[in-house]
Amino acid sequence: MNARTTRVRPFAERDLAELIKIYRAAFAEPPWDEFKKCSGCGAPYSREEAGEPLQSCAYCDRELSLTDFWSAREIAGEIDHARSQRGGIVIVADVNGALAGFTYGYGIKLESFPFLGGVMNGNAAYMDDIAVGPDKREMGVGTELGARFLELMGEQGFGQVVVRTDERNGASMALFEAALGFSKTGVYDPKFPSRLYLKKDLR
Ligand SMILES: CC(C)(COP(=O)(O)OP(=O)(O)OC[C@H]1O[C@@H](n2cnc3c(N)ncnc32)[C@H](O)[C@@H]1OP(=O)(O)O)[C@@H](O)C(=O)NCCC(=O)NCCS
Repeated sequence: MNARTTRVRPFAERDLAELIKIYRAAFAEPPWDEFKKCSGCGAPYSREEAGEPLQSCAYCDRELSLTDFWSAREIAGEIDHARSQRGGIVIVADVNGALAGFTYGYGIKLESFPFLGGVMNGNAAYMDDIAVGPDKREMGVGTELGARFLELMGEQGFGQVVVRTDERNGASMALFEAALGFSKTGVYDPKFPSRLYLKKDLR
């Protein structure tokens, strides 16, 4: 059996190309299905839908021209945005020296999440995204990334971490609830009925 070494560390610019590959692969999967989008209206197309011989967009009816759902620029923008926020952190995991996953997040204000009023405390951070490359799953990488994220947010003085995920996604539900100790808030995303918020109090 090969020995495996996982190392969690801060993101560096040189990681961007590999992070983009993992991001695209992870969020192209169900239930996210963010594989391609219509260049006209931005409607999402899953891998399955994008493989169908459609002439026109099923949403806007224009001639179909599909582009990557997440451009490299948008993903880089997500990372820059996280780093620019109060308490922003971006961390990555290497497995045997190769980038295997990432997570990022930042401090949030209740004004931006008014629907979380009853459950969010005034000193919360948000884990915006977490993903592990498809070939590095179920080896504990997501748990190591998430645990380090919680630790770093605690060290910065945040008292709570909030995440949003899709309840149909068994992997992320297991990661957040069983492995990292988050609990369901009972609050769903007003725009996406199967996406719910979970929280973990840090002290
Ligand atoms: C969610 C994700 C980050 C988990 O990463 P991972 O490295 O495979 O997670 P781990 O190996 O640390 O596993 C964590 C827990 O989840 C469980 N788990 C992982 N994948 C699972 C699956 N497909 N089905 C059921 N449980 C699963 C593990 O058994 C483990 O539970 P345990 O601690 O009780 O043994 C990964 O599946 C992923 O990148 N998914 C696509 C992106 C995504 O959905 N991100 C979450 C967005 S909010």
